[in-house]
Amino acid sequence: MNADVFVLEDLVSRKMLDAGHDKPAILAVLGFPVGHSASPAMHQPALDACGIDGRYIRLEVPVGRVAEALLGLRELGFVGANITVPHKFAALDACHQVDDEARLIGAVNTVKFVDGEVHGWNTDGLGFARAIREEFMVDLSGQRVMIIGAGGGAGQAVATQCARDGAARLVLVNRTLEKVEILASLLRRRFPATKFHCLALNDPQLEGVARQCQILVNTSSVGLRADDGSPVDANCFASHHLVYDTIYKPPLTSFLRQALLQQASVANGFSMLLHQGVLAFDIWYPGRAPLEIMRQGLRSVS
Ligand code: ATR
Repeated sequence: MNADVFVLEDLVSRKMLDAGHDKPAILAVLGFPVGHSASPAMHQPALDACGIDGRYIRLEVPVGRVAEALLGLRELGFVGANITVPHKFAALDACHQVDDEARLIGAVNTVKFVDGEVHGWNTDGLGFARAIREEFMVDLSGQRVMIIGAGGGAGQAVATQCARDGAARLVLVNRTLEKVEILASLLRRRFPATKFHCLALNDPQLEGVARQCQILVNTSSVGLRADDGSPVDANCFASHHLVYDTIYKPPLTSFLRQALLQQASVANGFSMLLHQGVLAFDIWYPGRAPLEIMRQGLRSVS
């Protein structure tokens, strides 16, 4: 196991957690597995640049034990934490209060300990909106957006953000159609100005519908493995498309490669990862997130 990764048993005391370190651990990312998480690479330089005396650590938390982990961190006087796969949904139930965005998505990716309570946020959606603005210089408002893999956690966050920001039309595509039909009926009620359309990944209409969209986003996990193909056919892409893959490793997935072949504009999930992190840091330390330092830190590991 990565020596950098702490486990629940290390939370028994400050002595265990901070042995051999000059600075106390004050922030953590909770996941399973968590050794690969890039979050320390952006948050530790941010803490250092702000002159905050503390460490950002990785904490491996088995499924079903996220509430226990959060209480342990609270007892040790932590400032907050990031929550990653597979705990984002369970973390919501462990919070005393959650913001609107997290409640709507049903998942929490950032917590802060406030007066002995656990408060939860979800910065994935807003991180996506900022990434789209930074990469393509457009807002989501009024756009026709196709989200491929909208049934997963990332897809729900992206779809919710698009609807919140006033996208004109959202095409929710998923291998399992029922999952996006449930999501669409929830969002439809809350955001009546947006038109929703659900399609199965293998629907013959996919190509034609994709061509009517302006932004195509991959939020499926297809592309994470080096030998993965694209989740959609090459004919779905056109030169007017802005194509975003929420995957950042590998940096150029088959999805993006196929889009590039059709002269579309493309970007990968590096910017979304960065901006959700910047938003989280701003929750812990309002107004202090050093964007460019966090960008540099993240670049050094991706
Ligand atoms: P989560 O984000 O909730 O952990 P996941 O299992 O990582 O979920 O899957 C994320 C998305 O990738 C889902 O939309 C999933 O489709 P299903 O809802 O049909 O499972 C999609 N996905 C994963 N593997 C896929 C594959 N081989 N082909 C197509 N879509 C796939």
